[in-house]
Amino acid sequence: MLESRLSLRLTATHCRTFEDYYNFLRFDPGRESELRELFNCVTTNETSFFRDTTQIDCFRHVILPQVMKDREATRKIRIWSAGCSSGEEPFTLAIVVVEEFPALATWDVQILATDLSEQALENGRRGVYGPYALRHVPPAYLKKYFTGSDGQYTIGPMLRKMVKFSPLNLVDSVRMRAIRDMDVVFCRNVLIYFDQETRKKIITHFYDALRDQGMFVIGFSESLNGINRLFRPAPWNKTIFYYKVGNSVAARSVPSVMRGLRGMDGQPIDQAAPNSGRLQSFTSSVASHVGPVGESVLSGRSWESRGES
Ligand SMILES: C[S@@+](CC[C@H](N)C(=O)[O-])C[C@H]1O[C@@H](n2cnc3c(N)ncnc32)[C@H](O)[C@@H]1O
Repeated sequence: MLESRLSLRLTATHCRTFEDYYNFLRFDPGRESELRELFNCVTTNETSFFRDTTQIDCFRHVILPQVMKDREATRKIRIWSAGCSSGEEPFTLAIVVVEEFPALATWDVQILATDLSEQALENGRRGVYGPYALRHVPPAYLKKYFTGSDGQYTIGPMLRKMVKFSPLNLVDSVRMRAIRDMDVVFCRNVLIYFDQETRKKIITHFYDALRDQGMFVIGFSESLNGINRLFRPAPWNKTIFYYKVGNSVAARSVPSVMRGLRGMDGQPIDQAAPNSGRLQSFTSSVASHVGPVGESVLSGRSWESRGES
């Protein structure tokens, strides 16, 4: 796949061999714009609205209510869709926010949507979607949040206002460190493209980007196995999300969102102190999702101060 996709770039740049192309990328004055083309060409942007609905339901029923509780004082919520492709994921989250919690209309809710592919981001900013991307969208939502008919639907202004698109390479540590105080991070179906070492680094950045007890959602078939045990797994309806355990005593307590949730062994996990046998037995029961430590404390500017569009 990589070879056939790269061949397109060889043709476009009049390079005869992969080595020629490699040298072009390293030394040609037009390398910056070619790198952008290369990223557009090799990334897989498969996505859709309401993809893996159980996870979206988890956001609706568990994650968002908890965040609202935690942020009652500031009335400010920050959500990050990392590897957002052409915007279907962040716009889905925006629909859930508006649909389920009208009270949030008076809050400051922003969804940061980042991706490596400028082409995908451009499509997200345009916000025009066809039947394939929209196949899981209930007709009532289609009517309420989009304009258009049959072939092409355009996302409405209310959702557009909530979602800020910005280019970001997840392996760019400097820029990753600039993102702080997130309540929720969605990074679904992206980590599969990295080796274990890079995954560890990226997950550590996500950990640092989240506030204490912030929530982290990865793809349905992905896991944090062998990557980072500072995130605690929380099971919900056959899916698992993670929350950040911080350093302070408060940050180490079990969030109220966990109340009523049961571990894989069927035992309630809510009253257990973070390091108690109960919670440990819960975490080991989902041991395939947890692994050795990756830890760091970093600082930087918040993404808001960067003036992204
Ligand atoms: C399969 S899509 C997933 C989209 C969405 N999260 C979902 O689950 O529907 C993977 C996205 O990750 C992006 N991606 C791949 N490598 C990346 C990187 N190094 N930094 C940022 N985004 C990246 C791709 O451009 C693509 O849009």
